[in-house]
Amino acid sequence: MAPTIHILNGPNLNRLGKRESAIYGTLTLADIESKAKTRAKSLGLSVVFRQSNHEGALVDWLHEAADSAGVVLNAGAYTHSSIALHDAIRAIDAPVIEVHLSNVFAREDFRHHSTISAVAKGVICGFGAESYLLAIDGLAALRAAAEART
Ligand code: DQA
Repeated sequence: MAPTIHILNGPNLNRLGKRESAIYGTLTLADIESKAKTRAKSLGLSVVFRQSNHEGALVDWLHEAADSAGVVLNAGAYTHSSIALHDAIRAIDAPVIEVHLSNVFAREDFRHHSTISAVAKGVICGFGAESYLLAIDGLAALRAAAEART
């Protein structure tokens, strides 16, 4: 069975396509899911793709991903406030890549701080939907590097 990665999306990302398209683009979350699954499949990975507007659901899903091949996490606005997500990432072994569609550092000051960057394996932002695909590439590269060491 193909190793599984979890792609977790936080609040308001269900509105992609309709929401502030000048910032977030016109693709829907379903479009991103389909692109992500295609990229992951080409790298021999299978995908669990989820979205919730609730912080606790994201915590539960991080726990479910504890022993997976990795997590791509767009925590939306919880990125900037959530100690619970910070702790959940610390509580699991799977590498977590923090992603954002927009370049959060080119936006309002309150988006410059992330509670999760310090505990993420890596951070990718500013490439629109491509941010997710780059994160999947990164998880695949981490796996390949780990396999080469064994
Ligand atoms: C976002 C950036 C966050 O600041 C914002 O709250 C979001 C989306 C992004 O993907 O660019 O909801 O995570």
